[in-house]
Amino acid sequence: MNNNIDRITKGLAEACKECILVAYNDPSAKKTILRGGGSSGGIMTRLLMPRPISKLRISEDALKLCLEYDVAPYDRFILTGSGEFKKKYPNLPNFFSSNAKTLAKCHEKGHFLTADHNVPNKVMLEQMFELCEKNPAADVLEYKKILNEQSYDLITLEENQKIDKAGLKSAGTKEKRDAQCSKKIDFVDLWLTPQDVIEKFFNITKLNKAECLDPCACDGRWLGEQGYSYDILPMKKHVVKKDFLTMTKSELPVQVKTIVGNIPFSLLREFVNKGLELVEDCYFLVSGDTIFRYFPNNIEHLYIFSGLEGNQKDNRSRCEFDVPFLIKSALWCCIVHLTRKTQPSWNVKANLTNAERRDGHHVALGKNVFVETDCEVDKDPRITRIPVKSSIVYKGGKKIKNADGTYKDINAGWN
Ligand SMILES: C[S@@+](CC[C@H](N)C(=O)[O-])C[C@H]1O[C@@H](n2cnc3c(N)ncnc32)[C@H](O)[C@@H]1O
Repeated sequence: MNNNIDRITKGLAEACKECILVAYNDPSAKKTILRGGGSSGGIMTRLLMPRPISKLRISEDALKLCLEYDVAPYDRFILTGSGEFKKKYPNLPNFFSSNAKTLAKCHEKGHFLTADHNVPNKVMLEQMFELCEKNPAADVLEYKKILNEQSYDLITLEENQKIDKAGLKSAGTKEKRDAQCSKKIDFVDLWLTPQDVIEKFFNITKLNKAECLDPCACDGRWLGEQGYSYDILPMKKHVVKKDFLTMTKSELPVQVKTIVGNIPFSLLREFVNKGLELVEDCYFLVSGDTIFRYFPNNIEHLYIFSGLEGNQKDNRSRCEFDVPFLIKSALWCCIVHLTRKTQPSWNVKANLTNAERRDGHHVALGKNVFVETDCEVDKDPRITRIPVKSSIVYKGGKKIKNADGTYKDINAGWN
């Protein structure tokens, strides 16, 4: 789970526990806390309403509508404010919202999808009350567990209407609510590669897109209309729905020489094994520490993201990604050229912290992994820098003098 979301969820769990404990000792407060469901509900439902949730899903019917109208579902989370959305989809400014009373009126105004908590906030609060009544000393992690059961789902207005008609408005279990909708699909490891990184990567490698397959293409941003773009959850019409992990050699188009893409990090080993089973060369965007842990002998070349190093003061590879739910985050990653042939070894030193080596002879690739090279990064023929634009800047903290005369940086971090 995204660390920011985890921290926010923990904070909310603490707030919920505290509030519910107050109501436990003063039953008249319970009604106020549970009042209402949505944004016009009671104080607690309003507190929970805008929280970021890491579990995101979309119903099959909703995805079908997105493909039909050429709307990328993740834009619901990434494009902040209606302004950005309107700019990208001037003809469909209301695609993801609903405020009209009838379906016909909604469609007239271009409302097609809406969002739904598959466990309503009110139901979560009731579960927390039950927990508190059973055990007033219950740990805050139990409150957090209840919060983590909730997913944020994109569904069609028709599905939303069915939920309401079944008497499940702000009520019901997730099973009952899901049963009113078409099958829900999880967004698995949906981290988007900035387009400029992709363009620079192809300019540098001179790979022919027409001979490439991207098995986890999402909206097909790596290859565009060229080559072959597949995904288990395609988000553009030209991307073919396929589970890469079950793909066989006979299914591989004969034109494909190379497999490329930003693979799901949670399936990194499975994707690399499958890629190298199908072709000789793969270029995957990966998390540095995992690739060096499991495939050190298959790495022929490294493409590190450069552009933040000036700010970072060390040579870490960093790239900004858009993360669902408006939280910008950074991912420790690089692109690796992997081959079936055994490659000369890389001198990997694990568990160094980024501050330990700043001499230009070391490249950090993952959270705590440094790859020691024989020469300076810019002179090492096995490493190429991909300059990236970034909006993350390092903000210096306040320096506090320790008793021994050294300084401690507080509040330093990344914006
Ligand atoms: C990190 S995202 C990359 C998205 C996009 N290609 C990009 O670079 O911005 C990983 C993608 O892998 C897809 N995926 C996850 N498991 C998959 C599988 N078994 N087969 C094919 N695609 C899968 C997800 O649906 C998601 O779109």
